[in-house]
Amino acid sequence: MVGKSVVTLDDLTTDQISLLLRKASYIESNPRRVAHACDGRILATLFYEPSTRTRLSFETAMLRMGGHVIGFSGTQNTSVSKGETISDTVRVVSQFADVIAMRHPKEGAALVAARAAEIPVINGGDGGHMHPTQTLADLSTIEKRFGRITDLVVGLCGDLKFGRTVHSLIETLCRFGNVHFVLISPDELKTPRYVIDRIEASPSCDYEEVHDLQDVIGRLDVLYMTRVQQERFFNEDDYLRLRDTYILDADKMKLAKPTMAVLHPLPRVNEIATEVDADPRAAYFQQVYRGMLMRMALESSLLGDPLPGFSQTQEVQA
Ligand code: NCD
Repeated sequence: MVGKSVVTLDDLTTDQISLLLRKASYIESNPRRVAHACDGRILATLFYEPSTRTRLSFETAMLRMGGHVIGFSGTQNTSVSKGETISDTVRVVSQFADVIAMRHPKEGAALVAARAAEIPVINGGDGGHMHPTQTLADLSTIEKRFGRITDLVVGLCGDLKFGRTVHSLIETLCRFGNVHFVLISPDELKTPRYVIDRIEASPSCDYEEVHDLQDVIGRLDVLYMTRVQQERFFNEDDYLRLRDTYILDADKMKLAKPTMAVLHPLPRVNEIATEVDADPRAAYFQQVYRGMLMRMALESSLLGDPLPGFSQTQEVQA
């Protein structure tokens, strides 16, 4: 993994993703031992698009391993506003930092950056395309709840068209296999063809597309709720018409399995009523914490910085 960029999780093997999951649980149990794993390293966060948890999560991950952080959040005061290209910006930042985390409103921007950079680039979201580190958070949360990331019925609900976290998650779960996807959306926000193609190309996975959450919630192991992505709509009226299509509340939760896990990449707008937060099946704040652990695992791995004590742990487990 050392020196690699992560534009989608296809850039990592399933063994490497499993290794990151093991590293994250090691970090969770040994925060003090890893507190200097990245001493002297510098992470640059280049965020061309709004973010709260993703940027802070990347940054906290580096700080918790002894490294430092530079970067920008919004391009107003940067040379981007003078017309600098992504390639030039990342070439410049490559002279300062050891690893880049980038978010951009355009699909494909992370790939352009990864090709131009001299250091690893981690995609923190490129338009409506992919969001690989959110998927790492999702996988870690599912694994923590169920002890596995296969043999599950996974419902994804809301904006499956523009929701990049949905695309990354489906693509990756397909690689591990044995997942039945229940794709719950209005017709206008259905899962894009290139993502459906991934399910169809995975012999152990299949899917159904439905409109109604209530009809299917009782069959789900995981319910992945999403926000309707207002910023990617061309028409405000369409957004207003579709934004409240699905609202998960305590009444709907009564129909769900006692073991179901509710995930959401956050931020939520209306799609999960706050009354659900106290339900032990709500996993979305735990998901934020696990996202930080997974970013610690990823950043240290791409930099080639070992986690003190980790290999011994692996030997003990083996
Ligand atoms: C998501 C994103 O930016 O794609 N947020 C996140 O990173 N946790 C989801 C969203 O904005 O709805």
